[in-house]
Amino acid sequence: MTAPQGYVSHLGYAMLDTPDLDATVWFFEQILGMTETRRVDGMSFLRAYDDYEECSIIACQAPTSGIRRTALRAASERDLEERAVAIQDAGREGRWEDGIAGRGRTFVTTDPDGHEIALYYDTVWYEAPENLAAGLKNQAQAKPNRGIGVRRFDHINFLAAHPDQAAAWHVDVLGGRATEQIRLDDGTIAAKWVTFGQKSYDVVYTHDWTGSSGRLHHLAFASDTREDILRAADLCLDMGVHIETGPHKHAIQQTFFLYLFEPGGNRIEICNPLTRLVMAPDWPVVTWTQTERLRGQAWGLGTIETFHTHGTPPTEGQDTRVYRPTGMLGKRPSGDARK
Ligand SMILES: [Fe+2]
Repeated sequence: MTAPQGYVSHLGYAMLDTPDLDATVWFFEQILGMTETRRVDGMSFLRAYDDYEECSIIACQAPTSGIRRTALRAASERDLEERAVAIQDAGREGRWEDGIAGRGRTFVTTDPDGHEIALYYDTVWYEAPENLAAGLKNQAQAKPNRGIGVRRFDHINFLAAHPDQAAAWHVDVLGGRATEQIRLDDGTIAAKWVTFGQKSYDVVYTHDWTGSSGRLHHLAFASDTREDILRAADLCLDMGVHIETGPHKHAIQQTFFLYLFEPGGNRIEICNPLTRLVMAPDWPVVTWTQTERLRGQAWGLGTIETFHTHGTPPTEGQDTRVYRPTGMLGKRPSGDARK
């Protein structure tokens, strides 16, 4: 296994569909501590405090939940041009568009499972207004005193009919590398983790049990510390946000995690993988067996059933409960005598 080829630098932004934009923005601001920079035409531009670009999430008012687009920043204008050619040479169609949220012209295509993937290079660096400016010049924005203040959009976990095939496209065409995977007893690859740099993963594909395509398992945001994740769990208790599972530690990739549902129905992870890097240029793909997966997470927590049954947008027959936080819009959780 070779090191990443360096054509792609990092995740740029995700466009996340929600049937309730106000409620979704409330979640990103009040729980994750992100900042809305503007709202235009049913789209909210949301930034983590250390984003050097305007935003890393664009929440979009839509009929249902799900992932609309995932954008990657190429390492140079030349890499952008060459990857656009490589994508088409590999048999996938694409088109050039004007950029969004300060990004320059953008090549838009789909991965083999139908998720929209966009590539860009030109971008506008964020300049914080005076009331949001950080004390240090090497930080994009002051850390908000609200929510837990996630540092960055860390990774995206797609659902796919064929995770191996979708992940291979990122490796073979975009120059990423696979770092870990799950192989079932019948040889099927049930999940695969891919990175474009020295973080141990940026993009993940997990098998979609419904057989549908183009769906989302979760978006993940990195906190500065593990303690922030414990605080997020307490904050969710106070604000009535549904916790799906955690806090706990994954065996795969060793990420400390907390999984939540934002009010639009999409699964959101708060993660703390900051100290774990893959430095070796010849890092072998670590393979987890079916038996090892059945042991659950690192410290023994069983994998929760909804992890295998909930994706967005929901499909027919899927549990479509929307967990609306009881503490939204300034209301305290029911039963609180102070309300
Ligand atoms: Fe994750």
